[in-house]
Amino acid sequence: MRVTPVFAVLLCVAFPVDAQGSGKGDANEPPVLAPGEVAVLVLQESGTPSPLSSARLRNAFPELMSFTVCYWMFLSRFREESTLMSYAVSDAKDNELRMDHRMSGYKVSLHSKWAKTQLDTPFRHWSHFCFTYAHGSAKWGIFLDGERKAEGRLAKYQGPLEANGAYVIGQEQDAFGAGFQRDQSFSGEITELNFWGKVLDDTTIAKVAACNDDQEGDALAWSDERWNITGEVRWAKRLRGDVCDRSTRELVIIPDRYSLKSSLHMCTVLGGRMAVPLTQEESDWVYDSSKERASYCSGGQGSSYMWLGANDEATERQWVYWESEEPLSFEGKWRGSGPNGGTVENCLVMLSGSFPGRWSDIACLDSYAFCFACEFESSSTLYLKGPAVCKYSPFNREYTLGEDVDGRPSIIGYLHSDIFWDANNASWVIQSRKTPEAVAYWTPVKEGLYPFGTKTWRLAAEVCEMKIGEEVAMTLSICSSGQFTCEDGSCIDLKQRCDLRVDCPDQSDEVECSLVDLPLGYANFIPPPPITDPDPLPILFMIDLIAFPSIVTQELLYDTTLLLSLRWQDTRLQFLNLKDDRSLNLMAGEAIKTIWTPRIFFRNAHGNVFTNLDQGARVEIIREGPSMPGPPSLTKESESPGNWGAVGGKRSYRRVQMETSQENEFATLRVDVRFYRRFIYYILTLYVPSSLLMMIAYASLFFNPLDFNSRIVVALTALLVLSSLFTQTSNSLPKTSYFKMVDVWFFFSIVIIFLVVILQTLIDFTAEKNWFFCRKKETVIEPLLQVLPRPTSETKPPSLTPPNRVASAGYNAGMLRFGQIILPIIFLVFNLIYWGSSMAHLGQRDY
Ligand SMILES: *[C@@H]1O[C@H](CO)[C@@H](O)[C@H](O)[C@H]1NC(C)=O
Ligand SMILES: *[C@@H]1O[C@H](CO)[C@@H](O)[C@H](O)[C@H]1NC(C)=O
Repeated sequence: MRVTPVFAVLLCVAFPVDAQGSGKGDANEPPVLAPGEVAVLVLQESGTPSPLSSARLRNAFPELMSFTVCYWMFLSRFREESTLMSYAVSDAKDNELRMDHRMSGYKVSLHSKWAKTQLDTPFRHWSHFCFTYAHGSAKWGIFLDGERKAEGRLAKYQGPLEANGAYVIGQEQDAFGAGFQRDQSFSGEITELNFWGKVLDDTTIAKVAACNDDQEGDALAWSDERWNITGEVRWAKRLRGDVCDRSTRELVIIPDRYSLKSSLHMCTVLGGRMAVPLTQEESDWVYDSSKERASYCSGGQGSSYMWLGANDEATERQWVYWESEEPLSFEGKWRGSGPNGGTVENCLVMLSGSFPGRWSDIACLDSYAFCFACEFESSSTLYLKGPAVCKYSPFNREYTLGEDVDGRPSIIGYLHSDIFWDANNASWVIQSRKTPEAVAYWTPVKEGLYPFGTKTWRLAAEVCEMKIGEEVAMTLSICSSGQFTCEDGSCIDLKQRCDLRVDCPDQSDEVECSLVDLPLGYANFIPPPPITDPDPLPILFMIDLIAFPSIVTQELLYDTTLLLSLRWQDTRLQFLNLKDDRSLNLMAGEAIKTIWTPRIFFRNAHGNVFTNLDQGARVEIIREGPSMPGPPSLTKESESPGNWGAVGGKRSYRRVQMETSQENEFATLRVDVRFYRRFIYYILTLYVPSSLLMMIAYASLFFNPLDFNSRIVVALTALLVLSSLFTQTSNSLPKTSYFKMVDVWFFFSIVIIFLVVILQTLIDFTAEKNWFFCRKKETVIEPLLQVLPRPTSETKPPSLTPPNRVASAGYNAGMLRFGQIILPIIFLVFNLIYWGSSMAHLGQRDY
């Protein structure tokens, strides 16, 4: 079980290439090479950063105008500045040429001017770099594996690269040949470092990078270079084929017993798939590197001991990969004549014992647990997250699978910390090689578990201001930025976290979905600071009136159901996991109480209603800005849009009466709700009937003038009916202390009918007296008297009213005429004034 490009491993098994070329001679001398081998300088092999490891060129460095420098390199670890080589000509001119393979990109300095790129240096893989510089135009070019990746122009510098300076591999010089720092050192291997005194063309560089042209530099050639090496630096031999190998395929053997399902899952969690060897050499390599544990892997029974990632479930003898269902391109040597289990044995395994390294089929039973290997198209990056990965943490954030330590694959940090199995303590250990005392342990409940996913680590040193012995939850997974790690180590899109839908197989994406990160010392009774300083905190209001369940006009009260929406910004809060759809950003009831919310008091409400956030209230967080990935010190990845969120509260209210509110030192909001009457109703039930009654009363003036009884009775009845109409209507009108127009109307109606009654009385009362208006007494009465006795008095019974009685029932005709004329005038004039002023009043209002 090894993590290395497979071909490298295979060939490493065949030849012990790592044997040091020295032993008998000077450590500075390169090894004696067999054909097909190259001499390689290995720096900081242990991964420990050091200012001591360096190789200084003994040859005189030539003067260069235009030049090309190319080299093969294998980067074992990044450093903060990862300076592969530096050239100084004096203490002042210490950055004449310098090459940094930083995590942030490849950077070259020439005469202290930088050619900066974002080019990533392949991590733990051989790669070929070239840098060209044309003196006249000051143009530079950068090539990775024969391809031009970046170019540019430096500020013109008149002089050449001066000769005879100090050329150092593995350290950055802050003084001539000195001033080394461990964060500016190089950890890895380098070979074939050549300088040409000209700009090589792209084709030549591509050929060199493809190992099709082994021309050496004309200014400095690798085979002629002699180096003084110090510190953790040694010469080694590598096969040229390995160095030139472009394949990034990797196999990692997991020497622990897992069921088929768990094995497939683990390979997925690591970003690969369960391995099936692609060649017989690979198959042999897998067997050779795992055979020692074969009896453990088989569970002590039978010769099947290792799952291979293929099945023939769909079609017998058609072996396909799990998941992708691609057919296998290669089948290894089978046990006996081939698979023999027929349709009941559909899983592929490797055998040991009497069939070493042979393939066989086996039933896919859950009860079987074997070891397995994962294959990777290229090595995957694992990310460590959690409180112990703070800004200045001794633990790295990025890792990749590495060589075995104590029988299990180790996990190698990009910079200087490693995660590895410690068999003595039966624990997984995170340890920094830069500060070796910085250690954290995770002891699995049983051996054979791996630290992928979220685990609780115990600190054995003070890390990130946490005490020794403290337990911290740390997540190790391949989930990069924009992804979320489920508890079992698999990745989902970060947008799917806390979206109220289960996406992780173990449902872990919907737990711990806190939306708000309260800062230390947050007091929820203190309002947020204003956004711009002297102004008050803006709070946006929105009121949706939904219904008026009841309106009691007599008491001037109404019930209303309304939706009050408030929106404010609390710059003290940090938000996490916010979604674009704000209905997903709903705060839980308990969390609402921890933050400040505006308190609203309905001043003129019945029973003085305050906002309360107990029932029916929603508090949503509105995302107003782009999100940034949360800091690596969060165990659970979250999106953090900083303090860009605004908080919105909503609540339904009932039984709130609103009229007005006034400004004082607190911000107040006034909501006016204006109702207006359907006046047709009042016209029909009030104005028309009362007008009709007035007309009836008036009509009594046209009755038989001598029939006083009927006239007065009709007028009085109209008055009576009017007053009962009045009583009835005023009960359904609001009681006010002031006059309403309708009151004026009633008063007028009563007055008119009253006038009719008075007139009738006067008409009768003034009949026999010579009152004013009674001049026509005789003239009016006489014809009447003449009319009445016109039938013969003989025919009349003697009991008939005597003529003097009839004469006494006279009337004041002048008064009658006066009444008949004056009343319509009064009515007309009043109506003109009344409706005129009503319309004018209506017109004043803005509806
Ligand atoms: C290399 O080391 C030798 C002695 O080991 C020393 O004499 C020589 O000056 C060194 N060369 C450089 C360039 O440091
Ligand atoms: C782990 O084992 C080493 C000895 O091998 C011991 O010194 C160390 O204290 C142990 N650590 C823990 C956490 O048990």
